[in-house]
Amino acid sequence: MPNSPFQPVELHHASRLLNHGPTVLVTTAAGGRRNVMAAAWSMPVEFTPPRVAVVVDKATFTRELLVAGGGFVLCIPGAALADATFAAGSRSGRDGDKFDALGLQPRPGPVLGLPVLEAGCAAWLECRWLPEAHTEAAYDTCFGEVVAAAADPRVFAEGRWSLRPDNADLHTLHHLGGGLFARAAQTVQARPL
Ligand SMILES: Cc1cc2nc3c(=O)[nH]c(=O)nc-3n(C[C@H](O)[C@H](O)[C@H](O)COP(=O)(O)O)c2cc1C
Repeated sequence: MPNSPFQPVELHHASRLLNHGPTVLVTTAAGGRRNVMAAAWSMPVEFTPPRVAVVVDKATFTRELLVAGGGFVLCIPGAALADATFAAGSRSGRDGDKFDALGLQPRPGPVLGLPVLEAGCAAWLECRWLPEAHTEAAYDTCFGEVVAAAADPRVFAEGRWSLRPDNADLHTLHHLGGGLFARAAQTVQARPL
């Protein structure tokens, strides 16, 4: 995308964006409406083609637009977006546009045109919804195929996260409850035994 500092992430590396369980901002759009909500429960489920799962409560506006629009974006906020992330998970888009209220400025995703957040985010995965009638009848889990992904190269490049003191604002958020997040920061490199 023009003027974007983000770099495309090869789809076979997309799972690494979610491997460590960051809280995400799920964005959706359909019929001229758009929305964003927080989700702590998302994960990769397949490598090729890359597929993900995210729990989206059936009562949410996000779920309504996800189904209507046939897709969603998992945007991975950095620590500087902790307040906006908690707020996006504490009110409904049915009561007003959360992008405007929270100062989030999306751009159209490259494949599906869904709202992609970059400023303050570490990465995003644009996903085509994979309807699974049996699962959805029993659970709130939704599946998607990742059709495009990109990351801020300051924190994720060549398929690897690099969490350093100088990119602390882009360290991912991990919800502990009640708006308290742990920030992914202290890493340990395993050595061959
Ligand atoms: C940090 C955080 C994580 C959340 N994780 C999830 C989740 O994984 N799944 C879910 O359905 N709701 C989750 N929620 C709740 C939704 O974000 C919340 O219901 C939101 O208001 C729905 O907005 P919407 O109606 O605009 O879609 C979370 C909320 C917060 C604050």
